[in-house]
Amino acid sequence: MSKREHRKKAWSSGRDWVKKIVRPVAKAALPKGRELQPEEWRLERAPDGALSLGQVELRALFEKWGSPLHVVDGERLDENAARFMARPPAAAGSCEAYYSYKTNPVPGVLRRLHERGMGAEVVSAYELWLALRLGVPPGRIVYNGPAKSPESVIEAVRREIGLLNVNSRAELALLAATARQLGKRPRIGIRVTLPGGWSGQFGEKVQTGAAMEAFREALAMPDLDVVALHCHLGGEIASLDRLDFLLSGVLAFADELRARLGLDLEILDLGGSLACPTVGPRQRRASRVAEALGLQLPPRPPEDVLGIDAYVARIRERVEGQFTAKGRATPRVFLEPGRAATGNTQFLLCRVVRLREPEPSGLAWAVLDAGINVADAARSESHQVFAIAPRPGSSRRPYRLVGPTCTPGDVLYGACMLPELEEGDGLAIMDAGAYFVPYSTSFSYPQPGVILIERGRVEPIRRIERFEDIVRRDILPEDPGP
Ligand SMILES: Cc1ncc(COP(=O)(O)O)c(C=O)c1O
Repeated sequence: MSKREHRKKAWSSGRDWVKKIVRPVAKAALPKGRELQPEEWRLERAPDGALSLGQVELRALFEKWGSPLHVVDGERLDENAARFMARPPAAAGSCEAYYSYKTNPVPGVLRRLHERGMGAEVVSAYELWLALRLGVPPGRIVYNGPAKSPESVIEAVRREIGLLNVNSRAELALLAATARQLGKRPRIGIRVTLPGGWSGQFGEKVQTGAAMEAFREALAMPDLDVVALHCHLGGEIASLDRLDFLLSGVLAFADELRARLGLDLEILDLGGSLACPTVGPRQRRASRVAEALGLQLPPRPPEDVLGIDAYVARIRERVEGQFTAKGRATPRVFLEPGRAATGNTQFLLCRVVRLREPEPSGLAWAVLDAGINVADAARSESHQVFAIAPRPGSSRRPYRLVGPTCTPGDVLYGACMLPELEEGDGLAIMDAGAYFVPYSTSFSYPQPGVILIERGRVEPIRRIERFEDIVRRDILPEDPGP
């Protein structure tokens, strides 16, 4: 053995000893959280451990439709949609919900949400086209975004969409000119930002006075009908405190608009950002240390996260409270939910392709057929993973879950506690209904299909991508034949 090899061996066995000593101490020091159970997602566990949804066994799905595969829980989708639009018991009215298309632009999902009464929130020419193509009435579309093309603005104005939210003052002139040319008077809102929320390329700042100036300018343009104040906070609203921060900022600015410009708003558009209760942000440093030791941080308790009902109730209470107290008509309230509407209504089934021997510290590697190509969000958020048919009595151990793309960065979970796995086993990555599908790529592998389950019925809503789909836009040589 060369000197170098000898040194390397000594270093790695020393590191393993450190791990052996540190691991139990770190494990004892980890915050204790309760484990999330399949019932949280309406999954049932049979006596042999196999999981099913509405009497459909996941193992069977996986055999029939292939892997990886997105599975949508149709009933939960309906439930979430209804909750966003419900009138809270103590309120006089309800909110109007416009689903954020970018979150999960699968037409089968979008159509279902529209059938249940949600409108469309779009941010590009493509999404606007898709909403119209799916038959959403133009009046039920909200058009947002920092990069609206002139053609898409013409289309939006021509079709008289319900609300066009101006992202910056610079957009006002384009909009007014388009309106004049088409002889229309579009209904517009202006996106504002609050300190502590997203700003950068988004909206006009309240605290610098830029937002007030944008409203002043818009109100002086006779071709525009200024009806709304728009504020999408960004990040995550997981607590009443964070929601109150948004509401206080928006309500105070609405008051100022009335006092200084005499504007009575017809609409308060509060954007999205409500958290998905079973998804947590990854605490980067803590999880890196834990994962290096083969430990998994406990999930954030879902009961600590603001739910849809409490969110809607607080919004109605504060908006109605403020306007009623001042003897003014309560504006309509628009919501643009994304992750909270669909995050927990979908999961991604995938398969263990290869298992690799445990390292001396005991961490085994499982290579899956789903990685950063289809589940990139799992790298920055904590998502529960279940074995869909664990072997009865098998003990749990940490696995490093990596994807199939040929890159060392394709690590979904540094350490994930799972029952003993075998090659071919199925896993379900939960809460895949927000930002999984739109961030998916055909990086070396075709993209998964999507099926929807409702009361035991399975309906395919997107077929698996084929090789031919991937090269559809390419100029290929003549087919050489078999
Ligand atoms: C303007 C706007 N509305 C709504 C959403 C949906 O956000 P979320 O998924 O956090 O609810 C987004 C997402 O970035 C957005 O930019």
